[in-house]
Amino acid sequence: MQLFLDSTDVAVMRDFAATGLVDGVTTNPSLIAKSGRPMLEVIAEICQVIDGPVSAEVAAVESQGMLAEGRKLAAIATNVVVKVPLTREGLIATGQFTREGIQTNVTLCFSAAQALLAAKAGATYVSPFIGRLDDHGAQGMDLISEIRAIYDNYEYDTEILAASIRSASHVTAAALAGADCATIPPDVFAALFKHPLTEKGLEQFMSDWAKTGQSIL
Ligand code: G3P
Repeated sequence: MQLFLDSTDVAVMRDFAATGLVDGVTTNPSLIAKSGRPMLEVIAEICQVIDGPVSAEVAAVESQGMLAEGRKLAAIATNVVVKVPLTREGLIATGQFTREGIQTNVTLCFSAAQALLAAKAGATYVSPFIGRLDDHGAQGMDLISEIRAIYDNYEYDTEILAASIRSASHVTAAALAGADCATIPPDVFAALFKHPLTEKGLEQFMSDWAKTGQSIL
């Protein structure tokens, strides 16, 4: 499973990248706004920190505008993935990007029918939003399972990028449901490392080791 950071905080990204466990980054207009920085600048900086795919989202809502913006974003670095909304216009643009060899992440996916269209348009990734479905009383993880089944039925290459992740259990459940990737906010990514029994067990190991008076080096 590929693990992406859902963030525009480059300093935090550097810290996580040092673990060797970060496979890519996703951004969106809200995260860019939160950064308070020019979009092209922050995407260029992220692409220097992270070797893997970096999703940068268009702002246009018509396909022609998406194509113009997406081509400009793709020109920033070879690892830029152009993110487009899962709308009719976004799928038209996705088809053209596919023909041009530009990688795409079709986002704001909330149904299996939408995900089917994204795969038919040749999307590199589709981003089903688990947390936002949960927020509306639906079972967001069921969508991951449905998309997995459909993509396997027809051997679609589009990768399922589980998004709108709210907890470490979302990551585990998405992995069990067969998502190819998950894009994870930094605080949730940090939670993946932790378990109280690990911390307690290590404390006990260190205490018992200290009593031996030994040194390995
Ligand atoms: O960036 C895409 C997605 O992960 C954002 O989800 O619900 O946390 O805004 P959300």
